[in-house]
Amino acid sequence: MPITLVTGASSGIGLELAKLFAAGGDDLVLTARSEDKLNELANDLRQKHRVTATVIPSDLSKIDQVDRLCDRIEDRGLQIDTIVNNAGFGALGKLADLSVERQTDMLMVNIVALTRLTRKMLPGMVRRNSGGVLNVGSIAAYQAGPNMAVYYASKAYVLSFTEAIREELADTDLHVTCLEPGATESDFGDDSGMGKLSMFSSQTMSADVVAKAGYEGFRNNEDVVIPGWKNRLMVIGSSVLPRFATRKLIGKIQGA
Ligand SMILES: NC(=O)c1ccc[n+]([C@@H]2O[C@H](COP(=O)([O-])OP(=O)(O)OC[C@H]3O[C@@H](n4cnc5c(N)ncnc54)[C@H](OP(=O)(O)O)[C@@H]3O)[C@@H](O)[C@H]2O)c1
Repeated sequence: MPITLVTGASSGIGLELAKLFAAGGDDLVLTARSEDKLNELANDLRQKHRVTATVIPSDLSKIDQVDRLCDRIEDRGLQIDTIVNNAGFGALGKLADLSVERQTDMLMVNIVALTRLTRKMLPGMVRRNSGGVLNVGSIAAYQAGPNMAVYYASKAYVLSFTEAIREELADTDLHVTCLEPGATESDFGDDSGMGKLSMFSSQTMSADVVAKAGYEGFRNNEDVVIPGWKNRLMVIGSSVLPRFATRKLIGKIQGA
């Protein structure tokens, strides 16, 4: 069975993606910090889909734990076919007001861990010429985000990185997809502080619908998947409006 590594599998979109890959017959390696939630999901997947689900908890804001995750995967003889880089978080507030540590951790999880895990897994995938990379970005990637500067910039990185490696891998059979959700029901809203914004109270999508769009897009090797017509409309708006206008608009929505 192919093996899929899902980061941030303990809740929200990552948990739903793990369910879809298991339903599709993949064995799973599940990681996040919440070991109990991962074990509960792993038991559920084993029972429902008769797959192997291995739990390896890790804090992806710590580079040594990212490397330890890779070592533990290798020690167990698990060959990762597909990596789903989903773990991520945001924080609403001005750069000068938010904690330096939290902003740095965000860069570590949203960018450094995603890049390092992909780099470490990719040579094996290329050798076997199967599987691929599904990165979870955000529609935040398409404009600057005043009052959430680091998060928006981190998601712009995820989109650029994903598109670039897709081209690098164009002569392989690997699939490379960036899933770009808009406001989605999960722990993210409360955790980031965005839950109180109008965009979260009026137009959230459910995590399972978002994950399904991403899973199907990855299976079809689509480059970018933006679930929901309202989100697609927002991205089109960002591409036609001048950047000074979109950042002013986002700043207004986010109370900058
Ligand atoms: N919800 C939205 O509105 C929305 C919109 C656009 C994009 N996204 C993106 O979608 C992805 C999934 O978010 P979600 O909405 O499903 O939110 P969520 O329910 O809060 O899930 C986030 C996941 O990331 C994991 N995570 C956070 N910090 C971590 C760390 N230091 N080390 C390891 N794992 C960590 C969490 O696990 P633990 O806490 O157990 O570690 C959890 O499993 C994120 O990349 C997010 O940026 C979300």
